[in-house]
Amino acid sequence: MQKKCIVLSCLLVVAVTWSTVAFSEDKLLCIPLGSIALKAPAQAKAQRADVDFPHSVHFGYKCQDCHHTWDGGAEIKSCMTAGCHDQVTPPKRPLKKGEYTEASIKYYKYAYHVLCRDCHQEIKVTNKKIAKAVANVEIQKTGPTGCNECHPKH
Ligand code: HEC
Ligand code: HEC
Ligand code: HEC
Repeated sequence: MQKKCIVLSCLLVVAVTWSTVAFSEDKLLCIPLGSIALKAPAQAKAQRADVDFPHSVHFGYKCQDCHHTWDGGAEIKSCMTAGCHDQVTPPKRPLKKGEYTEASIKYYKYAYHVLCRDCHQEIKVTNKKIAKAVANVEIQKTGPTGCNECHPKH
């Protein structure tokens, strides 16, 4: 994986156009560019292939849309940091009124599917509505929503 380290004072210039990311001075932030292989935790027996996540394709979004606990300064934690989305067994009653509960979203699979798949899915739904309402309008590109598109069959 390629990594790029930028002194934060330079990054700030870029970050301002993106939105509200505030950085403290003279710290170094290393952002993985290109793709990150997202894997199931070792304790879980993975049934599906790893997911190739093109990180930088998503930089049009706010960092905090995904790194939702990041304060803009401290180190960015991995999704499966202890106590976050590190549960390896599926919870029994995951849904309440159609939404994952605070407890069930700790299960890593639900966390990733809700973050990744649901965003792509929502764009698809919006695209369909737009296409129905207006002809010949440019619709937004979306990411994959099918199982094998994210977990390729070997
Ligand atoms: C669409 C979601 C998404 C967006 C937007 C996003 N990231 Fe990430 N980023 C991820 C995921 C998923 C990982 C892998 C986390 C893991 O391995 O647990 C990651 C990993 C990282 C890591 C490595 C963390 C580690 O575990 O070592 C850094 C640093 C990082 N991102 C910085 C950024 C910055 C800065 C931005 C904004 C410019 C950004 N990311 C935008 C999803 C995103
Ligand atoms: C907030 C919305 C959002 C989130 C969250 C998000 N994506 Fe995406 N993703 C997109 C959009 C929009 C595109 C299309 C971007 C483009 O091709 O210009 C995309 C494209 C992709 C692509 C295809 C890239 C290509 O070059 O064709 C993959 C693979 C992907 N996303 C995986 C993921 C994974 C895995 C996660 C979760 C870690 C994730 N995405 C989270 C919006 C999102
Ligand atoms: C947008 C991408 C995306 C889509 C679409 C998607 N997944 Fe996933 N899935 C992930 C990510 C990311 C993980 C967590 C990393 C990992 O385990 O590889 C995951 C984890 C899993 C896991 C737990 C780990 C394992 O390998 O056993 C299963 C099972 C799974 N997905 C099945 C599915 C099925 C079935 C579908 C279709 C109904 C699907 N996924 C659609 C991204 C996706």
